[in-house]
Amino acid sequence: MAQTPTVIGISSEMTNFTQQAKSMGQRVGFVPTMGALHEGHISLVKEARENCDLVVVSIFVNPTQFNDPKDFERYPRTVDNDLALLAANGCDVVFIPETVSEVYPSGYQSFTLPLGNLENVMEGKHRPGHFNGVINVVSRLFEIVEPDDAYFGLKDYQQYLVVNQLIVQKKYPIQLHGRPTSRTGSGLARSSRNTLLSEEERTLAAEIYRILSLTRDQLNILSVEELEEKALAEFREHPEFEVEYFEIADGDTLESLNGKGSPGKNPMAFVALRLGKVRLIDNMFLKN
Ligand code: PAF
Repeated sequence: MAQTPTVIGISSEMTNFTQQAKSMGQRVGFVPTMGALHEGHISLVKEARENCDLVVVSIFVNPTQFNDPKDFERYPRTVDNDLALLAANGCDVVFIPETVSEVYPSGYQSFTLPLGNLENVMEGKHRPGHFNGVINVVSRLFEIVEPDDAYFGLKDYQQYLVVNQLIVQKKYPIQLHGRPTSRTGSGLARSSRNTLLSEEERTLAAEIYRILSLTRDQLNILSVEELEEKALAEFREHPEFEVEYFEIADGDTLESLNGKGSPGKNPMAFVALRLGKVRLIDNMFLKN
């Protein structure tokens, strides 16, 4: 039976809540989100529910990770619907900071981390400052929630690697879990921003999955350079797509495999494009 989660808006109350649960031997699972929840988020909540005693979800549209102010304004906000979904899927506590200063108290000093290649390629290159915003908010949320386990979707694969670096470098005692991208029947990767697409755009956006799958299926036939060229040519068939990048890169280091002569052990394809007013990203493991 659906049980209404406890909603907490004050950081210190959130910390007290989890500390008390942990003092009783409970394992705390955490799913950080920006709301506008969909099945992808819910699969993270379900995974946390299976592994942990207390499941905490945060909803906070973090202003510091938007390099485009219009994207921040347009970001969908659907709190009532989010709470209903969380109630139906076993979430215990929802942390919705009452004000931005609950996350960034006055005098908060933002920090940077050496992220190496991760901040120079793809999302790091095309969204300057984005990952710095992500590491600051995720570190604040980790410090407020103090989880044992944290769950992230692999659609934002580069973000997942960045959060892994955050955990390693800050020595947070947190187990990071990356969950497969959730897709609609057409293959479109679920994303909160999909609600901003028109019906026609959503249909067209399924091409992204088709082109990624085509790349995967031809890995043993074409070179990395040919695969990239072919994918870009496929995208160009649809003038509605404005491709920012399509890259085949190593899944562990995100180093481009173009010019390397072999796709190596863990090649992945990554794409970012604009469709109408919306920026979409997706990726695919090419060998498994
Ligand atoms: O992936 C997201 O929704 C956000 O980047 C996150 C991790 C909640 C930080 O604001």
